[in-house]
Amino acid sequence: MKLLKFNLIFIPFLALCLGTVGYIAREMLLRDAREHVIQNARIIMETMLSSRTYTTKQVAPLLQQKNFKLQTAIAEFRKTMAEIPKAPDLAAAKDIKGNAKKSFLLGQQQALDAEQQFLVSVKGRPEELLDNEFHPQSVPAFAATEIFGYLREKFPDYFYKESTLNPTNPRNRATDWESDVVNQFRAGSTLAEFIGTREASTGTTLFLARPIKVNNVSCLECHSTPDKAPAEMIKLYGGDNGFGWKLDDVIGAQIVSVPVSVPVRMAENAFRVIIAWLAGAFGGILLVANIAVAIVARSRP
Ligand code: HEC
Repeated sequence: MKLLKFNLIFIPFLALCLGTVGYIAREMLLRDAREHVIQNARIIMETMLSSRTYTTKQVAPLLQQKNFKLQTAIAEFRKTMAEIPKAPDLAAAKDIKGNAKKSFLLGQQQALDAEQQFLVSVKGRPEELLDNEFHPQSVPAFAATEIFGYLREKFPDYFYKESTLNPTNPRNRATDWESDVVNQFRAGSTLAEFIGTREASTGTTLFLARPIKVNNVSCLECHSTPDKAPAEMIKLYGGDNGFGWKLDDVIGAQIVSVPVSVPVRMAENAFRVIIAWLAGAFGGILLVANIAVAIVARSRP
């Protein structure tokens, strides 16, 4: 009778403990998994920002520097060309007499003519050395997207996009849900970051978004009106898209998507193991407590 009373109190108490501990453990594990996913997304975001900085600070100046050096060399070449005499030097021939003087001057004239011919033939050539092509590789958005493309070959469930409402390159155009994210940034322009989850074809994904702002007048050189942009860029991209941006406008968002299924599955597994051990431990406690109560009850009639 005593044992029954004891169990009527003790079993619900143990069940309550198991439920509470289980609930807290599950919440903690899932929160950790989510934090882990967010951390992953942040690392990817920072990597992409680094690749953008690298492009701005190292690749673009390299191309400019190369052309600058060539321009200097060409200018010097032109100067040297201009300094080459066109007629024989009469002063040098002043001490030579008779036929010898004539042959000397003729010889000099022929040499100068040959030189002139050579100069005419190479006249336009130095400019051909100049690299006037537009290289998207020096554009930060292009570099980041391409670099992530290589990463995706190994991690196809991960995703990065410079999602833009009116992009220069159509592959950067914001899809419907991405437009919603961009518009949220446009509406509340103080928001520095936005985290959300969505169901993608590959399963549940978490996305981390940051606004892309036209934060420098230099952007307007290529994104304000087609006539201001480099002609070679227009040749490559046309003059219809990626223009009309204004200073301080939020025109898009960097969006990193990472899958959540794997960390969540790991958290669920860990939870199951913890619950199994706890249930075992509580079962043991119940057994020992029952034995103890039975012994005490028998020794005190
Ligand atoms: C030298 C010209 C040039 C300058 C300067 C420039 N961009 Fe771009 N930008 C481009 C080109 C070209 C592309 C398309 C690249 C590609 O093919 O992915 C582009 C693409 C982008 C994209 C991706 C969306 C799209 O339009 O395809 C963003 C975002 C962007 N630029 C933002 C900026 C910002 C912000 C600045 C100023 C800090 C800037 N750009 C300065 C030429 C430029």
